[in-house]
Amino acid sequence: MKATLCFVALAAVCTAAPLETRQAAGGGDGPYKPGTYSQDSSLTGHTLYKPANASSTKLPVLLWGNGGCSADATGQAPFLQQLASYGVLVIASGTPKGSGQTTAAQMTAGIDWIKQKAGTGAYANVDASRIVASGWSCGGIEAYAQIYDSRVSSIGIWSSGLLNNQTAAKTFGKPVFFFMGGSSDIAYANGERDYAAMPAGVPKYKGNLPVGHGGTYTDVNGGKFGVIGAKWVQWVLRGNATASEYLTSQAAKTDGWSVVSADLDKFKVAPI
Ligand SMILES: *[C@@H]1O[C@H](CO)[C@@H](O)[C@H](O)[C@H]1NC(C)=O
Ligand SMILES: *[C@@H]1O[C@H](CO)[C@@H](O)[C@H](O)[C@H]1NC(C)=O
Ligand SMILES: *[C@@H]1O[C@H](CO)[C@@H](O)[C@H](O)[C@H]1NC(C)=O
Repeated sequence: MKATLCFVALAAVCTAAPLETRQAAGGGDGPYKPGTYSQDSSLTGHTLYKPANASSTKLPVLLWGNGGCSADATGQAPFLQQLASYGVLVIASGTPKGSGQTTAAQMTAGIDWIKQKAGTGAYANVDASRIVASGWSCGGIEAYAQIYDSRVSSIGIWSSGLLNNQTAAKTFGKPVFFFMGGSSDIAYANGERDYAAMPAGVPKYKGNLPVGHGGTYTDVNGGKFGVIGAKWVQWVLRGNATASEYLTSQAAKTDGWSVVSADLDKFKVAPI
């Protein structure tokens, strides 16, 4: 019941699992660890997850919408710190421990903002020519809404699927990567339907781990979702072909994922 309500975006009843306090100061096991979070006063209503130790590399951009479209941008902090530690700037909708709701338009505002800031000041090493939109559950629907934005290269759907315009997936012209919680995930049928509906020739990937709708976001470093999420951002944002092999070879299956994909040979990302 709680998961159902989360998915339909009643954030008030969708309280995130308690954040592991030992990770509040930073986390993640990637090469640019720790991933930390902070806010920038020029981008109200958002939280930035950054690798603390990345002055030597370019940072592409991942947008994130929280479960329940909650405005608490720390609800999935261990997972997002993990992704940041692998060398991406995460722009999460909402504020640390924030209350209320976020919108798809807010996610778009994050794109507008980083397009202005990238290459200057504190964002000198940000590469805003590489932007992926993603989110969990209701946040995934916010991410889907960015698919028609030419500045966004691909979409990451975490335990989600279209709720209103359910046939829109037939029009998707961009790669979509689905990470779902298996048949007990309340969003399972919707994600499966969207994956199946996408037009032939458009790259797509779907992994299911039988953990249900809640995922593993608040486990240490985001648990198994953090493992596959780190490989995914290295692939889709940093162009790391070795990292992609985790998702497409036996490795993800060995970790418990059921995987299908199509047309990934057409998905090319140059190394950053
Ligand atoms: C950054 O990474 C280098 C090399 O791995 C390490 O020696 C250094 O301690 C790190 N700095 C911080 C602030 O984590
Ligand atoms: C679904 O419809 C809503 C409302 O019209 C729109 O904002 C959103 O962009 C649509 N999403 C997709 C993926 O078509
Ligand atoms: C690419 O990914 C692999 C596997 O995750 C990692 O071992 C390697 O260091 C990465 N390469 C770069 C250049 O980041």
